[in-house]
Amino acid sequence: MAITINKLSPHIGAEIADIDLNEEQSAETVAEIVQAWHDNLILLFRGQHLDAERQLEVTSWFGTPGKVARPKEFHPKGYEKLPEGIMLISNIRENGEPIGALPDGEMMFHHDMMHAEVPHKATMLNAVEIPSHGGNTLFASGYAAYDTLADEIREPLEGRRAFHHYNYGSVQKGDGKGTPAFSESNHPVFRTHDDTGKKAIYVNRLMTEGVLEMDQEEADQLLSAVFDHAEKPEFVYEHAWQVGDLLLWDNRCSMHARTDFPETERRLLLRTTVTGDARPF
Ligand code: SIN
Repeated sequence: MAITINKLSPHIGAEIADIDLNEEQSAETVAEIVQAWHDNLILLFRGQHLDAERQLEVTSWFGTPGKVARPKEFHPKGYEKLPEGIMLISNIRENGEPIGALPDGEMMFHHDMMHAEVPHKATMLNAVEIPSHGGNTLFASGYAAYDTLADEIREPLEGRRAFHHYNYGSVQKGDGKGTPAFSESNHPVFRTHDDTGKKAIYVNRLMTEGVLEMDQEEADQLLSAVFDHAEKPEFVYEHAWQVGDLLLWDNRCSMHARTDFPETERRLLLRTTVTGDARPF
């Protein structure tokens, strides 16, 4: 049976329906799905309930699965046998400690791994336990925001590089929740997608600190205007999770954030990534 592609919002997101990802898929179907991903930036598959091994196989349709740098505290009891490449996002606590990364609360917009020299190009989340409300993930199209950015903001930033810093585990800039600097990087403010050739905004409120060779005050003003523009609801798809959802996003041309959720309710998602092919340009 042919897959169905349903758009989720005007600028970002498509649901792929009429597919069971637990079944083997033909090379043609996989190619169609990869093309739908390039066209829509994020893909949603509902009702899939994949185990970790199958999630890694599906992840590999989009490139080489990333090896997750999982600090010791993210090898919780009962999850030691998870294959390398699977990371837990969870607020579930054992002996008072979360069993996963990014456990609690609202999270600012960010691009995964932007703090690395060659960031992972995609991230996939597989919803296992979901609270009754909240904990939605918001995805913003960096293409749509770039295409509509006012000239007076875009021109002074065009061709420049921004620098980024991330404290691993932090969810709000300066919240003190993360480890000391996990890593720092600098990348073009506007990057070119290496598969589609389109340009997208590549700075975000959580990780971006400034612009190379630009006065800090001027950079702060311009960056703040870019963040306000790029986070406008018209560029965003907000995903309310259901158990069994599998969602893949492209870190090269989209950023994401998370809404708050009750700390008394369990949330668990399995996360995989796809490594980047090249330094952002
Ligand atoms: C993430 O930013 O990688 C986590 C998103 C989420 O927990 O919804």
